[in-house]
Amino acid sequence: MTTGERKREFQIALIPGDGIGPEVVEATIPILEKVVRKVGHSITWREFPWGCDYFLATGRMMPEDGLERLRPLDAILLGAIGSPGVPDYISVGGLILPIRRGFDQYVNLRPMRTLPGVESPLVRRTGSDLDLICVRENSEGEYVGKGGRHEIGSAEEWAEQTAVFTRRGIARIVRFAFELASRRPRRLLASATKSNALQYSMVLWDEVVEEVASRYPHVEWRPYHVDALAARMVSHPDTLDLIVASNLFGDILTDLGAALTGSLGLAPGANLNPDGQYPSMFEPIHGSAPDIAGTGTANPIGTLWAGALMLDHLGLREAHDQLLGAIGRVLAAGTIRTPDLGGSARTSELATAITAEL
Ligand code: NAI
Ligand code: MG
Repeated sequence: MTTGERKREFQIALIPGDGIGPEVVEATIPILEKVVRKVGHSITWREFPWGCDYFLATGRMMPEDGLERLRPLDAILLGAIGSPGVPDYISVGGLILPIRRGFDQYVNLRPMRTLPGVESPLVRRTGSDLDLICVRENSEGEYVGKGGRHEIGSAEEWAEQTAVFTRRGIARIVRFAFELASRRPRRLLASATKSNALQYSMVLWDEVVEEVASRYPHVEWRPYHVDALAARMVSHPDTLDLIVASNLFGDILTDLGAALTGSLGLAPGANLNPDGQYPSMFEPIHGSAPDIAGTGTANPIGTLWAGALMLDHLGLREAHDQLLGAIGRVLAAGTIRTPDLGGSARTSELATAITAEL
C-alpha cells in the first residue's frame, strides 16, 4: 500500500490490554504521533479498554461486536494480554486469537535483528550477524482449538489437541515467505518442519513448500527439522535469513530469536491480512510480564518497533525508517537502557530519549 502526497489521517485501534501492555503502549503513542507528523500525516487513536479487567467485569474479553468495531479502522496496535487471575486460554484465547482468525491475519511476521549497540547474550556478536525474520502461519495448525479432554478426573484421563493443516493455508503462507525472501538481499529461506515425527501434517507441509519453491528458482531454500533449526539459530545464526514456520513452531522459534537479539522486550510482531480485506494488528511478541508490571521498567522498544511495522504497512516507509534510526542511535549510545538490557532507566526515560532523538 502506498500513500500519495495528500495528508492522511490514520484511524488506529488501540488495545493496551493487561500488565505492562498499557505501560509500553503509553510510551509508544507520542513517539508514533511525532514520527507520523514529521512525514506529513496524522494518527487518530480509538482506544478499546478490553482485556482481563474487562473480562472480570463483563465475563468477556471483548464485546460480542468487538470485531465489527475494529473492522472499519486502518490497523490495530495491541500491548499485551494476560493476567495471573485469568487462565491464558480464556484471555489470549478470547481476544488475540479471535482477532487473528476473524480478520484472517494469516501471516505473523516477526523480525529478529540485533539493534545497534545491543549485544546478543549467546552469540556475542552484533550487527549483521543476526538479522532474521520469521514468517509464522497464524490461522491454522496447532492453534485451531480442536480437541478435547476425556474421562476427566479419572486415572485414565486423556486429552487430544488436533493440529489442522490445509493445502491452501500452507500454500498462501509459503508463497508470502518466498515473495518476501525474493526481496531480501540474501534470498535465503529455511522451512521449519518435523516430518520425521509428524507424518501427516509436516509431510503435507514439506510437499507444499517443495511445490511453491519450484516457482522461485532464484531463492535458495532448504527444510530443517525444527529442533535442529533451534540449535542452528544459536550456533550458526549467520547461515539463516528468513524462516517460514507453522503456528506453534514459529511461536517458539521467535521467543528464542528475540532472546538472541538481547531481550524479549525488543521484539515486534505483525499480524497481517495481506489481502487488505481486514485491518492488520501489530504487537510486541512479549506478553503482559506480570513479574515487572507496575514497576515502570518495561522495555517499550518491542511495541515501538511494532508501531514502526504498522507505519510501514500503512505506506509510511520513511516514518518507519526514521523511527528505527532513532531507536538505534539511542541504543548505540548505550547510556539509557531498561533493566532487561542491563541498565536502570525507566520506560518513560527510554521513550523520552527516543522522542528527543527523532
Ligand atoms: P512474558 O513475555 O510476559 O514475560 C517473559 C519474561 O520476559 C518475563 O520475565 C518478563 O519480565 C520479561 N519481559 C517481557 N516483556 C518485557 C519488556 N517489554 N521489558 C522487559 N522485560 C520483559 O511471557 P509469560 O511470562 O510467559 O506470560 C505472561 C502473560 O502474558 C501470560 O498471561 C501469557 O499468556 C501472556 N502472553 C500474552 C501474549 C500477548 O499478549 N501477545 C504473548 C505471550 C504471553
Ligand atoms: Mg509467544
